[in-house]
Amino acid sequence: MRLSTYFLPLLRENPTEAQIVSHRLMLRSGMIRQSSAGIYSWLPFGLRVLRKIENIVRDEQNRAGAQELLMPTIQPAELWRESGRYDDYGDEMLRIRDRHERDMLYGPTNEELITDIFRQNIKSYRDLPKNLYHIQWKFRDEVRPRFGVMRGREFLMKDAYSFDLDLAGARRSYNKMFLAYLRTFARLGLKAIPMRADTGPIGGDLSHEFIILADTGESQVYCDKAWLNTDILSSNVEYDGDLQPFFQRWTALYAATEEKHDVANSPIPAADLLAARGIEVGQIFYLGTKYSRPMNAVVAGPDGEQIVAEMGCYGIGVSRLTGAIIEASHDDSGIIWPESVAPFHAGLINLRAGDSASTAAADGLYAALLKAGIDALYDDRAESPGVKFAAMDLIGLPWQLVVGPRSLQRGVVEVKNRRSGQREDMTAEAAINRLRAGL
Ligand SMILES: Nc1ncnc2c1ncn2[C@@H]1O[C@H](COP(=O)(O)OP(=O)(O)O)[C@@H](O)[C@H]1O
Ligand SMILES: [Mg+2]
Repeated sequence: MRLSTYFLPLLRENPTEAQIVSHRLMLRSGMIRQSSAGIYSWLPFGLRVLRKIENIVRDEQNRAGAQELLMPTIQPAELWRESGRYDDYGDEMLRIRDRHERDMLYGPTNEELITDIFRQNIKSYRDLPKNLYHIQWKFRDEVRPRFGVMRGREFLMKDAYSFDLDLAGARRSYNKMFLAYLRTFARLGLKAIPMRADTGPIGGDLSHEFIILADTGESQVYCDKAWLNTDILSSNVEYDGDLQPFFQRWTALYAATEEKHDVANSPIPAADLLAARGIEVGQIFYLGTKYSRPMNAVVAGPDGEQIVAEMGCYGIGVSRLTGAIIEASHDDSGIIWPESVAPFHAGLINLRAGDSASTAAADGLYAALLKAGIDALYDDRAESPGVKFAAMDLIGLPWQLVVGPRSLQRGVVEVKNRRSGQREDMTAEAAINRLRAGL
């Protein structure tokens, strides 16, 4: 993509309305624009990141055996009256009336809708287990929307719902999602800590929140320091294997959030305890029959008896993750994207857009990058080198390639790694090989 034609409205100044670094950087790097409180448009640069996160979340859900569907954003109130939550949910629910005076709502979550789909279509124990998920916009009329996409009113969530015949099956489904979440966040370049949590308005009696450490987080975290040094991806647990020992090993390593648990009685010795702030990026719940019983989601058992489905639900804040990743990965100059979610793999700077030799070399390198399958953003604008360097650091692409008259004379390009800051001169061919190694 050529920057001269790309829609990337960068801001040089810090917007005054943004209180935390991720919000500032998302506005400055032209990722999002607010349309009203807690509601955002995703501009091309931001949307690329959102889609990459979504795809990693999707891939890991699929691997864990969940199946994707897509439910609507608008739901009928009737279903929520059946579960009893229409009145309970309160002011966070956006209520709508259609032209026939029917009560509708913009879904804050989907337990009722998925349970309705289940009961209409799944009738036999032979059809279980099932785990169904979607990635869809939610609306919660938060009292205090703030911190940009971190606490929005409209936000993108992945929500999965599992249905099992019995408690043992439900625990298996829960543990699978537990593992899938650890893997998902690791692939996003994040260290997410699972914390035993309150179940809140969703219900049920077992829940974990996944929290990443960041000073600006809204949650207080206490966990065993040892946890942070453990590499989850190196564990070769299979989704089909016995997940209970794995689950127990991991859950033994952390304590709990301050407001919800008595940390004084926690089994972690004080010297090993880490107290920090964190951001909740996901939460999983064992629901039991909280929705399936009132909504009559039953299947016929082997002897024709009626079995009420055991449910679980599993959420990931996809849009919140864009902000959370920036909170966890930035410096004074701007964003530092992990390679897995970077909107472009590399940025190419032509230092002298007015110089025909420099421009010919940069054009050639740009074409070669695209041919090699490297998604590059090419700064071909007639701006000063200082402006271009600052913009490239701000938007945080993993690699920067710089072409200018001086390096041209020596037959090299300058390659800079955004994270380490290391610079190296190499031939165009060597640069392309270096970048491809990270794909
Ligand atoms: N207002 C919001 N803005 C952005 N993301 C949100 C918001 N509310 C929830 N999320 C994300 O969706 C995930 C699942 O939601 P859930 O646990 O039901 O929400 P909550 O913890 O706010 O009750 C959360 O872990 C969080 O990452
Ligand atoms: Mg939650």
